[in-house]
Amino acid sequence: MPQGIIVVSYIAATILFILALRGLSHPETARPGNLYGIIGMTLAILATILSERVTTYGLVISAMAIGGAAGVTVARRVQMTQMPELVAILHSLVGLAAVLIGFANYIDPTASFEGTAKTIHELEIYLGVLIGAVTFTGSVVAFGKLCGKISGKPLLLPARHWLNLGMVVLMALLGKWFLGAEGLAGGLASLTLMTLIAFALGVHMVMAIGGADMPVVISMLNSYSGWAASATGFMLENDLLIVTGALVGSSGAILSYIMCRAMNRNFISVIAGGFGTEGGAPSAAISGEVQAVDPEETASLLTEAKNVIIVPGYGMAVAQAQHVVAEIVKTLRVKGVNVRFGIHPVAGRMPGHMNVLLAEAKVPYDIVFEMDEINEDFPETDVAVVIGANDIVNPAAQEDPNSPIAGMPVLEVWKAKTCIVLKRSMATGYAGVDNPLFFRDNTRMLFGDAKDSLEKVLSYLRQ
Ligand code: TAP
Repeated sequence: MPQGIIVVSYIAATILFILALRGLSHPETARPGNLYGIIGMTLAILATILSERVTTYGLVISAMAIGGAAGVTVARRVQMTQMPELVAILHSLVGLAAVLIGFANYIDPTASFEGTAKTIHELEIYLGVLIGAVTFTGSVVAFGKLCGKISGKPLLLPARHWLNLGMVVLMALLGKWFLGAEGLAGGLASLTLMTLIAFALGVHMVMAIGGADMPVVISMLNSYSGWAASATGFMLENDLLIVTGALVGSSGAILSYIMCRAMNRNFISVIAGGFGTEGGAPSAAISGEVQAVDPEETASLLTEAKNVIIVPGYGMAVAQAQHVVAEIVKTLRVKGVNVRFGIHPVAGRMPGHMNVLLAEAKVPYDIVFEMDEINEDFPETDVAVVIGANDIVNPAAQEDPNSPIAGMPVLEVWKAKTCIVLKRSMATGYAGVDNPLFFRDNTRMLFGDAKDSLEKVLSYLRQ
């Protein structure tokens, strides 16, 4: 295919990716956004395959068939609750690809760079492999933590900041050796050593990060995977990959910043790890009694209410209760109750998790509010219904300076006249922190699977 058509296709794909990002920023435009992304990616792949640089079609098509089949199978099997794990493992593949492409580029016998061009090319390879290696192992550990295969508790080695610094200095020294290496053997040795250190750095960095900070880590790894792709673009002299990587890298970085702000956390201290686990006084003891409620009482509390705010959390996703929630909302609205949703920015296990579920159940967007928009309305609310949420409604974040989640903004559900919490047990949430909300005088616990409990509530509401 003529080079001109390829350039035009790359520009069109870039524009489509930007439109996709814009569309994905709101549930109402997410579907067309997704479509733009699909068209852009198809265009990008076709233009790349048809470019003069690809000569071995058999190999490319077989690789695409294997990768595509694996991708379709995994995506069809994955549950909505496992989506963050899938994202984490996909990031790890981007990192691994950057490492492998870096090595392949270095040993490529056809490469003929001289002088400054050679130094720049090798610098691209070195940085690409470094970022890719950290992204790879960091994402694998994040995957393990998200699916519970690795404990969410931070692993804090002694002098861990010095250890990180030592690894960074060592990699810089190896970089100097790599750029000055005369033969292939010396270059490969330094590149391999650096890769092993970067693998260790990725593991160490993410192992040291506690459960409550995982949302930031995921978006940070998302950003790293973008920069790794961008570095690969430089290595392969592919402008589209450079731009696409930069788009992912910068949007991931912005998302990390937004997450940090939502959780009142400082980005550097998240990366340094070990949030809320070192020294300090123990968390405040919890007093009070747990008061259970049954579905019938819940239904009558809801019918008598004028204002209701529903706060969904990870448990709603686990129970797949969004459809019955939507039915309850419809029924209450017909009865004249003002029902709204309050969404915490890190509710669930991925950004926008709750919005996706509510959109799937066709809950109208105009009754779904962000935490900042609705938080001051709780004192005028008759019933706050917490569906499978825990950390995001924990008053200890505001009241106990020694709590591991101290300072994280939370939805102030305890300020409503009555707060009904749906969960199966008294277990803690993702951050592993006890919740004094369950012991408050105005809190009622509706124990059981959220979907089962809400189906019973719905049947009483319809009587
Ligand atoms: P969590 O604090 O994890 O609490 C979820 C609660 O749901 C649990 O206490 C659990 O209690 C309950 N639950 C689970 N399955 C249930 C079911 N079938 N029926 C009823 N209840 C069920 O969730 P949250 O309040 O949404 O907070 C999110 C947490 O995840 C935060 O700590 C956040 O930092 C972290 N995180 C968020 C993200 C993003 S980007 N959103 C990513 C990674 C981590 P029982 O076991 O007693 O039922």
